[in-house]
Amino acid sequence: MPILNLLYENRDVQNIENLDVYEAHGGYQGLRRAVTLERQAVIDEIKTSGLRGRGGAGFPTWIKWNGLPKNFDKPHYIICNADEGEPGTYKDRELLLKLPHLLVEGMIVAGYACCGTAGYIYIRGEYVEPAWQIRKAIDQAYKQGYLGKNILGIEGFNFDLYVHMGAGSYECGEESALMSSLMGERGNPRLKFPHAPLPVIEGVWKSPTLVNNVETYCAATWIAKNSGAEYAKYGTERSKGSKIISVSGHVAKPANYEIELGTPLMELLKIAGGITGGKLKAVIPGGSSVQIRTAEQCEKINMDYESCSANGTLLGSGGFMAFNDKTDIVVLMRRTAEFYMHESCGKCTPCREGTRWIYKVLDRITSGAGRQGDIELLLDICSQIDGRSYCALGDAAAWPIVGAIKAFREEFEYWITHKRSPIGEDAVPPVPVVVNPLLTLTPA
Ligand SMILES: Cc1cc2nc3c(=O)[nH]c(=O)nc-3n(C[C@H](O)[C@H](O)[C@H](O)COP(=O)(O)O)c2cc1C
Ligand code: SF4
Repeated sequence: MPILNLLYENRDVQNIENLDVYEAHGGYQGLRRAVTLERQAVIDEIKTSGLRGRGGAGFPTWIKWNGLPKNFDKPHYIICNADEGEPGTYKDRELLLKLPHLLVEGMIVAGYACCGTAGYIYIRGEYVEPAWQIRKAIDQAYKQGYLGKNILGIEGFNFDLYVHMGAGSYECGEESALMSSLMGERGNPRLKFPHAPLPVIEGVWKSPTLVNNVETYCAATWIAKNSGAEYAKYGTERSKGSKIISVSGHVAKPANYEIELGTPLMELLKIAGGITGGKLKAVIPGGSSVQIRTAEQCEKINMDYESCSANGTLLGSGGFMAFNDKTDIVVLMRRTAEFYMHESCGKCTPCREGTRWIYKVLDRITSGAGRQGDIELLLDICSQIDGRSYCALGDAAAWPIVGAIKAFREEFEYWITHKRSPIGEDAVPPVPVVVNPLLTLTPA
């Protein structure tokens, strides 16, 4: 069953964003069921479900939930990462807009299970409408007694929920930078475990903090209502349940599709209406920071964590971009590199300098000024960034370039030798003709 509408069960119900309609369709039954269980039993349900974080890394959700201290010595914070900056990913936006109560309910369930005192939904600055929608849902939930003091009449079960708007920085989606930004500091990442305590022990305001993605909390709502065992019936052995995939690029029906994990990549392409404007050339399955795969490689990939990594790429955040055979891969990588150069926070040298160098070399190549040795230079720069930067943005900037060179090396060589696109005049995205003079300096 490729399409598996668990979270999307009621997506198309009119006015489902309103509390009364949401309740009429089984809304807040997950929370009502959760509070009949011991806190640990709720965490055990999440464990049974096999749910893994949907923000990109696929970390087992229950391990985080179980990691928060089980007492009230300090306030515990429940944070939702709604920064959604990964190019190609727009699934959280739709959840926030259409199913805001699914998220609010999931966060209250997490608050109950993890002794949470307050929750924050950190939304990227550009998501103005989703932020309005979620604020409206929070107001409704307070009025109905799902938020505030003594929730559902349970003495001592208090939980408040706030919306915090970011300023549109990709780096603020990285959880430690997100926490800094939430506290009013500069959006730079912090030291990580084992050099610093885990966020579940010392997160925002030095208190235990849970950070999960929008889709992860929404899945937790479904699990709280239907049970972990029910969720675990779907998917593969290690990738359980469903995943929302944002399909874009050269397809007839770009949209968010909730699919069963393990669905063949080619099947998903079919669901999205197939390739337009030519034949399939390549797919980026999990957002711009994962490795691009050729049409031939795509035949072997299933949309789950294990199959993607066994085939040299990642499921990531589910930002699935399909490209037809008019696509100029070198120009595509130049645009990708421009994004990471712009979004590097500048804290560490390999990423700050390296992302700029990658862009400059790709800009040089796609301006017809590429030199013999530029491919090796690109690989060398990437190897100096990957694993040597302070946070994963550096790795995310290097991986796609290395992946594209491995899969489409001949296109880089063509550009360097012939000083023009191998695709010719029909190339998409259009080959740039104007070169930014500030960025044509030779990398050191
Ligand atoms: C540069 C960078 C940007 C990220 N952006 C996001 C984001 O927009 N949304 C998100 O949920 N996770 C993002 N992540 C992953 C988070 O750091 C974190 O792993 C995630 O929010 C954990 O939630 P999950 O376990 O539910 O996936 C990003 C990571 C990095 C390194
Ligand atoms: S890797 Fe990039 S984004 Fe991360 S800390 Fe270093 S400069 Fe900042």
